[in-house]
Amino acid sequence: TVLAVMADGHAVRTIEGMARPGGLDPVQQAFIDCHGLQCGFCTPAMLLTARWLLDTTPDPTDEEIRTAIAGITCRCTGYANIVRAIQKAAEEDAA
Ligand code: FES
Repeated sequence: TVLAVMADGHAVRTIEGMARPGGLDPVQQAFIDCHGLQCGFCTPAMLLTARWLLDTTPDPTDEEIRTAIAGITCRCTGYANIVRAIQKAAEEDAA
């Protein structure tokens, strides 16, 4: 979470702009494949955070994944499938 004024002059990515031409971002597909969501309330934040993590840390450890998503509360999944989805997306990015 940032104040809007802190984003002045920076690019802002939203979930609506995440898909790539011709298909989903690998993070989006991995969340589908690994059942990384249930109600979907936390999912936009999870997806955007996962994409940021993989863009800055292409081969994250479990601890790095859990640290990256620590500020996002998911009341549904227990996080295991979310971590698994991010690991799968990392593998897809590397392929
Ligand atoms: Fe429901 Fe995360 S999927 S809060």
